[in-house]
Amino acid sequence: MRRIAFSGLMLCIIAAPSVNAASLYAGQSRAAAVCAQCHGIRTPSADAPFPPLAGRDAAYLQSALKQYRDKTRKSEIMNAIAGSLSDEDIVNVTLYYSRLKP
Ligand code: HEC
Repeated sequence: MRRIAFSGLMLCIIAAPSVNAASLYAGQSRAAAVCAQCHGIRTPSADAPFPPLAGRDAAYLQSALKQYRDKTRKSEIMNAIAGSLSDEDIVNVTLYYSRLKP
């Protein structure tokens, strides 16, 4: 599973050389360390109602995270998590998720 997602990522990098590979890797490691605990890469399990992020529009994900950070969108969990993300973190992690195959 991991291997497939990874080679998909490599293909994206090759196909879109303008994307900063460092951002993708930074996003990927943050996603693995933090977000993946709740947001499954594939279908969320029935008892974990966390919205999936893979393949979603990066601009949407970014605006959602900024709303959580400035608390215009309320979620105890996500307000706490987004509060510790910098603008750069948000760009990196949303870039990573938007390029994952759902
Ligand atoms: C402890 C569990 C948990 C972790 C860790 C977590 N999230 Fe969430 N996330 C949630 C829950 C629960 C929601 C739904 C909140 C709501 O009702 O708005 C959510 C919602 C979101 C949404 C909105 C999705 C939508 O469909 O509007 C985004 C974007 C998001 N999270 C990104 C992230 C990112 C990026 C990380 C890692 C930096 C992360 N989350 C880590 C639990 C978590």
